[in-house]
Amino acid sequence: MKKIVITIAIALLCLAGTGCCQNAHQAAEEEMTNPVIETIMARRSVRHYTDQAVPRELLQQIAECGVNAPNAMNRQQWEVRIIDSQEYFDGLTQAIKDKSPFPMGDDDPKFRNCLRNASAAIAVACPDDESGMCLINVGLLCENVCLAAKSLGLGSVVMAGPVMMMNSIPEARPFLDKLNFSKGYKLRVIVGLGYPDEEPEAKPRDIGKIQFVE
Ligand SMILES: Cc1cc2nc3c(=O)[nH]c(=O)nc-3n(C[C@H](O)[C@H](O)[C@H](O)COP(=O)(O)O)c2cc1C
Repeated sequence: MKKIVITIAIALLCLAGTGCCQNAHQAAEEEMTNPVIETIMARRSVRHYTDQAVPRELLQQIAECGVNAPNAMNRQQWEVRIIDSQEYFDGLTQAIKDKSPFPMGDDDPKFRNCLRNASAAIAVACPDDESGMCLINVGLLCENVCLAAKSLGLGSVVMAGPVMMMNSIPEARPFLDKLNFSKGYKLRVIVGLGYPDEEPEAKPRDIGKIQFVE
């Protein structure tokens, strides 16, 4: 009998303890922020960077986050190049500056290069495919890159502008060739990276674009 009473008492104590823990856990959860959501909401395109070099281990880690993105049938139809040579950035800038339809850096005292002044960059290529899946894969890869960068204290900017120049003007050809993409792969996008030298405000988003289907 004594044994039964002790067992019931322990069980009651445990139950009370669990309830207490649950409340404490809930309270802690309310206090706590969600780091993934925080990173998503805080990410902004950064177009000015300090000249501090990004360690290659970080760039490698960011690129690996990129290729861990979801992709159609896990065929991984992408190729990724990490660029951190300032000589490359300077040369590319010289090659495309005069041909750019937009003024490049003329009104910007902090202008350093045509990749929005980034100190490193990740270039991504994929083949042409009728389904459009490859471009979706690349987009997802880029978002992983941007979020990983943000979480590591780096800024990022996805860029199509310089890519269009690189794919079209002969002066930029040597810089495209240097990326050494496989035959059939086309450069689609470059993500500029670096330590941010600005904190841009969030641009407004139209939440009205989101609708539940009843
Ligand atoms: C496919 C794509 C191409 C882009 N191309 C450029 C570009 O060439 N130059 C640039 O400064 N920003 C470029 N951006 C960045 C957008 O301008 C930016 O994401 C948008 O204005 C929203 O601002 P936020 O990223 O700060 O939220 C591009 C973004 C995407 C997704």
